[in-house]
Amino acid sequence: MKYSVDLDREEDLKKADPEKMLDALAGLADQCRRAVELAGKVDLDFTGTFHNIVVTGLGGSAIGGDFLRVLAGEKMNVPVAVNRSYTLPCYVNKESLVFAVSYSGNTEETLSAYEDAKMKGAAITVITGGGKLAEKARQDGVPLISVPSGLQPRAATGYLFLPMVIVAAELGLIPDPKEDLADLIRSLEEIQKRLTPKTGEKENPAKQLAKLFYEKIPVIWGASGTTETAAMRWKGQINENSKAPAYFNVLPELNHNEIVGTEVPGDILEKVELVFLRDWEDHPRVAKRFEITKEIIGDRVSGVTEVWGEGNCLLSRMMTVTYIGDYTSAYLALLYGIDPSPVKLITLLKNKLAEV
Ligand code: F6R
Repeated sequence: MKYSVDLDREEDLKKADPEKMLDALAGLADQCRRAVELAGKVDLDFTGTFHNIVVTGLGGSAIGGDFLRVLAGEKMNVPVAVNRSYTLPCYVNKESLVFAVSYSGNTEETLSAYEDAKMKGAAITVITGGGKLAEKARQDGVPLISVPSGLQPRAATGYLFLPMVIVAAELGLIPDPKEDLADLIRSLEEIQKRLTPKTGEKENPAKQLAKLFYEKIPVIWGASGTTETAAMRWKGQINENSKAPAYFNVLPELNHNEIVGTEVPGDILEKVELVFLRDWEDHPRVAKRFEITKEIIGDRVSGVTEVWGEGNCLLSRMMTVTYIGDYTSAYLALLYGIDPSPVKLITLLKNKLAEV
């Protein structure tokens, strides 16, 4: 067998996944429930109106900001920006709501951006599993949503994303999300049954996709306003869980550049496995673009697969389509004989930076 494990042998998967990434993934619906409860308890002592929201964080702690940004496009009347750096944009002021998000609470860029938010007089809410960021929030009397620690940040998306939806709703910046949240949890539980290690490869889209990606270069294309963040997340999860290269882009933008880059070099293009992340709320012209794009370049790459999320609202569909990618990346890691959990290179880099 060319693969390191048989994806249908649960015992083998357990052995190859000592830090239990697959168990962490299985807990997503529960995590979402718990996150909503935790966020509901926070005391938001803000007065005045907000003209913009900025989410500051990195990696697994920033992606929730991008999910919020996509939701904002559909449901909010203030813009959401995601900041992945040491300082915040100069428009941030006392009319800004800043979410400082770091699962470890020790990411230097986020700690620095938190200080910048304070200096700019923004209203801050901290979401963290502990560390220096929790300490600072306590010292400064900043609203703090403390989430359970012990996971990899990228496996804590429910904890790191949903509290922002609850706070935004509490402040009247987003319509009551109760129904959407119930639909989300139901949809996650439903799709999880098909993604779990217990479900054999024939019925399990994540196991099938992992095999498609094996020894290939996954390229994930989503659509602006629907699956764009999911596409970014698939790429990141393949990088961090499978330790393999992956790339993403979005339509319609990629129809104006990346599509042209499919002529040479042939030996690399034949390794490219394209995935289109689709949504029935994609703009009708974007839906057409997906079709025509496949027609034009489908035979220049190894293959093209369409993946759709599930659920009655955009929140559910973007999170379920993301969930398929999360499981796919973990199975891909196991096929390669890679432990999905540790991210040694991120830790090494953070340690080297801490020395200087
Ligand atoms: C590791 C991961 C990383 C971290 C990032 C920031 O699982 O997902 O992308 O999220 O290095 O660290 P935190 O989340 O602790 O602020």
